[in-house]
Amino acid sequence: MKVIKTVADFWAAQRGYPRPLGLVPTMGYLHEGHLSLVRRCWEDNSTAVASIFVNPTQFGPSEDLSTYPRDMEGDLAKLEAEGVDLIFAPDASEMYPDGFDTTIDVGSIAQRLEGEHRPGHFQGVATVVCKLLTIVRPDNVYFGQKDAQQCLVIKRLNADLDLGAEVVVMPTVRDPNGLALSSRNAYLSDEDREAALSLHRALKLAESRYEDGVRDATMMRREMLALLESEPSASIEYVSVADAETLVELNSIERPALVSMAVRIGKVRLIDNIVLES
Ligand code: PAJ
Repeated sequence: MKVIKTVADFWAAQRGYPRPLGLVPTMGYLHEGHLSLVRRCWEDNSTAVASIFVNPTQFGPSEDLSTYPRDMEGDLAKLEAEGVDLIFAPDASEMYPDGFDTTIDVGSIAQRLEGEHRPGHFQGVATVVCKLLTIVRPDNVYFGQKDAQQCLVIKRLNADLDLGAEVVVMPTVRDPNGLALSSRNAYLSDEDREAALSLHRALKLAESRYEDGVRDATMMRREMLALLESEPSASIEYVSVADAETLVELNSIERPALVSMAVRIGKVRLIDNIVLES
């Protein structure tokens, strides 16, 4: 496994590797969710590439960039064990050298939900993913449904700018209690972890109402809010029942719906979602 830190070295190194080539972009502190993407990447491609880059431009000024968990050594050991061929792990100065002054702004799909609550976040994501796709030029690129809106933003970006990758979305990996794996779970205390299960409970509630035939999205949002509000350490940013393609809020669920939420448990901001479709 080669670990490469510069764009020039990556371009030189990748020439010797067979196609198809798959890329798994990450910010490191890898868990089984990330590794599920790596394994699928391995299945689909002759060469597997992962990137590790904590992208500063997707963090807001009051967000957790400086404390974002990092463990480069542990991450490299995990990727080596998965048989990854190439790691691209640039420094911020390589990705954003002095004078860097271009931002990619994906339209309406990036302005809802997370876009509304984290201004600038998707500009940072789209800009860095555009750069990664341009540097690595993968045939296939892998993302997790855990970040459902990010997947939609990247599909739009990839199509609109003819970046030419096949975007593959993999299901959310959860712990046995249902908590979606996330690098940020590292910040949760034992009590917080217990409280964090309320997100999954709210999603399960929506799912069971849907299975009972409920299609009233307003009622569904209200019931989920009530469940989350009964958890004292949860502070709710949003609960959404939206069209799974456009993210426009629904009154009635007649098309596939993305049920999603952002909730703070103590200081930790968690997101989770499921898709409801018949
Ligand atoms: P990061 O949070 O490290 O996640 C990297 C990839 O792993 C994303 O596609 C994310 O959706 C996926 N992932 C995270 N938790 C998952 C889980 N529990 N199950 C399945 N997949 C999961 O997302 C980012 O990094 C960044 O925004 C990035 C795309 C790398 C751009 O900087």
